[in-house]
Amino acid sequence: MEQNEKTVKTESIKPIPAVERIGRELQDDERDKNFNELNLIIESLAGDKGQLIRILQKAQDIFGYLPDDVQAFIAERLRVPVAEVNGVVTFYSLFSTRPKGKYIINVCMGTACYVKGAQQVMDALKKRLKIDEGETTPDGLFTLKSTRCVGACGLAPILAVNGKVQGMVDPGKIQELIKNCRKGEKNENQKH
Ligand code: FES
Repeated sequence: MEQNEKTVKTESIKPIPAVERIGRELQDDERDKNFNELNLIIESLAGDKGQLIRILQKAQDIFGYLPDDVQAFIAERLRVPVAEVNGVVTFYSLFSTRPKGKYIINVCMGTACYVKGAQQVMDALKKRLKIDEGETTPDGLFTLKSTRCVGACGLAPILAVNGKVQGMVDPGKIQELIKNCRKGEKNENQKH
C-alpha cells in the first residue's frame, strides 16, 4: 500500500518538467520560424533603406507586435542603428511594442461620444478588465484603446470590438460584453 502511494506521488510529479520543456521547445520553434520568415523578407527587400516601414509592417504581421529583440534584429540586418528603427516604431501609431489582445476594444472619445458618456464607458471597461488604456489583460484576451470620431456620431457613445462597431453603449452593460467575448472564447476552445 505504502509502495503504491509512493508510485502515485512520483508519477504525478514527473511529467510536469517534461510538459514545461516541451512547451518551451514549441515556443522556441515558433520563434525561430518567425525570425527565419522575417529574415527572408529582409533579404528579399535588402539594399533599400526606404523599405524599413514595409519590413516593420511585415514583422508586426509575423510577431503580432515589435518587441526590442525584433527591432534589434531588423536594425542589425539592415545595418542601421537600433535607435533609427525604434524612432520609426514609436513615431507611427500603427506599430505596437507590446503584444495585443485577441479582442481589441476601441472606445470612441470624439466630442459626440464624449458628451454621451464615452468616459463612463471607458471607466467601466478599465474597472472590469483591471487594465489601463493601451494595456492588455494578462491572459492576452483584451486590449483597451481609444480612438477619435469614427463617423458614427448618431450612435454615440460607440465602441468597436475588433473593428465591429457597437452603438449606444450602456456602461452598465460592459460586464455582459466582456462575458460574451469570454463565452465565445470558451466555445472556440471546446471545438479544438
Ligand atoms: S464622436 Fe464618436 S463616432 Fe463621432
